[in-house]
Amino acid sequence: MTETKPIGVFDSGYGGLTVLKEMVKTLPQYDYLYLGDNARAPYGPRSFDTVYQYTLQCVQWFFAQGCELVILACNTASAKALRTIQQNDLPLMHPDKRVLGVIRPTTEVIGEYSKTGSVGILGTTGTVVSESYPIEIARFFPSIKVFQEACPMWVPLVENNEYDKPGADYFIQQHLQQLFKRSADIDTLLLACTHYPLLINKIKRFAPAGTTILSQGEIVARSLKDYLERHPHIANHCTQKGERRFFTTDSVTDFDSHASIFFGEPVASEHVELSR
Ligand code: DGL
Repeated sequence: MTETKPIGVFDSGYGGLTVLKEMVKTLPQYDYLYLGDNARAPYGPRSFDTVYQYTLQCVQWFFAQGCELVILACNTASAKALRTIQQNDLPLMHPDKRVLGVIRPTTEVIGEYSKTGSVGILGTTGTVVSESYPIEIARFFPSIKVFQEACPMWVPLVENNEYDKPGADYFIQQHLQQLFKRSADIDTLLLACTHYPLLINKIKRFAPAGTTILSQGEIVARSLKDYLERHPHIANHCTQKGERRFFTTDSVTDFDSHASIFFGEPVASEHVELSR
């Protein structure tokens, strides 16, 4: 039997499935292993150290499953844990393995979408407080003005299947109004949380007409393709049998009933117990 070395895709819950969906579209030949840490989601309101500890534990689980490359398809984990894992843990644990996030690929291109030079970042409290987006965008597009808005209710609305219900309107409108009050020049909105693509119809409805709304899935998938082309030694270690497996730290019944909404096709998950 040939060994499978899938690409690991991680999120605190279901949101990363919106990214995996695009990866599978762009790079269908690879094997993928998805882990949603649903039992401990949401990560957004948790401290730096807690998000780091949880994420590291999940990354170690991916490595134990044979993954050579893990994508943190979660902005909160990318903002609060990625740098420490890349700089401190990987060199000691597995210098040959790679962990990548979703912030860098997005900030590398965001400036190309804005004509006014003002962009809005919508994310979890954790992502916004980390200042990761303003810092990274300044490296690639120093003249771009960045306005952030934390939307702490949006992940719970999505995780609890309320994303398309009328009750969600209040919270969508509230945060968009706050953001645009700070700058009417914003012409590009980034959904800097992988859960938010499910809210896109409502965001479009309440954002000023003509606003460009960016989801990360396609951007991250394009960037992964480019990365694998530029790093054949990593790409050659990832097996290509087109297999996908899904794991959750919580109930598989709940995961399967929600996950298809994010992934766009039925999902049959397996449970994994991570020590708490
Ligand atoms: N999907 C995660 C992100 O992109 C956040 C969800 C959470 O708060 O756990 O930030």
